[in-house]
Amino acid sequence: MLQVKNISKNFKKNQVLNNISFQIYPGQIVHIAGRNGSGKSTLFKIITHLIKPTSGTITLDSNVKIGALIENPGFIEYESALTNLKFLANLNNAFDLSTVSNLMESFYLNPNDNSPVSKYSIGMRQKIGIIQAIMEDQNLILLDEPTRGLDPESIEQFVDLLNKLRNQNKSIIIASHDLLPDLKYDATYRLEKGLLVHE
Ligand SMILES: Nc1ncnc2c1ncn2[C@@H]1O[C@H](COP(=O)(O)OP(=O)(O)OP(=O)(O)O)[C@@H](O)[C@H]1O
Ligand SMILES: [Mg+2]
Repeated sequence: MLQVKNISKNFKKNQVLNNISFQIYPGQIVHIAGRNGSGKSTLFKIITHLIKPTSGTITLDSNVKIGALIENPGFIEYESALTNLKFLANLNNAFDLSTVSNLMESFYLNPNDNSPVSKYSIGMRQKIGIIQAIMEDQNLILLDEPTRGLDPESIEQFVDLLNKLRNQNKSIIIASHDLLPDLKYDATYRLEKGLLVHE
């Protein structure tokens, strides 16, 4: 699905990633931990081609469609959540109202709520960020601290959702400080001093 090979990244003299290699296969869930500033988001940005590595290669299978939630996603603040999701999916011609409505409802969001996203709480915004990363049937899903701001019931829903996605043979990489309880990981890594350590 994805092969990360010998990726290094320097920001001027600051070497953030030092020869990182790993791979993920269909139906796997991989966890990447690491302190603040250890390079988790940087690695995600390299995988999604938002930034270039200093060296190394990212190889994706030909059928891969990437969905990603990285740091704090931006939204059109004066539009509703549904309008924002419609806008994002329409960029790829992939908007499906029942998929998006079901995802919103599973996260206790009302698809018919017309309030602008500017009025949304941090957890509610985070949920829209998770939904946009999966709503187009993406099969490689990168989630950067996805449970930040989520209440316990929503975290349970999120774990159910991840298990469903795994059963659909999708590959998921989660970067966060803690492992989710009740979720089985196929591999867990830690970014430390630029190195990716297998735990
Ligand atoms: N555009 C940039 N220019 C210069 N340095 C950067 C840039 N982006 C990230 N860095 C540096 O790269 C390092 C890794 O940052 P990154 O955001 O990847 O860490 P992180 O593991 O995601 O941290 P956190 O847990 O706080 O989200 C930090 O030292 C940061 O200052
Ligand atoms: Mg980060």
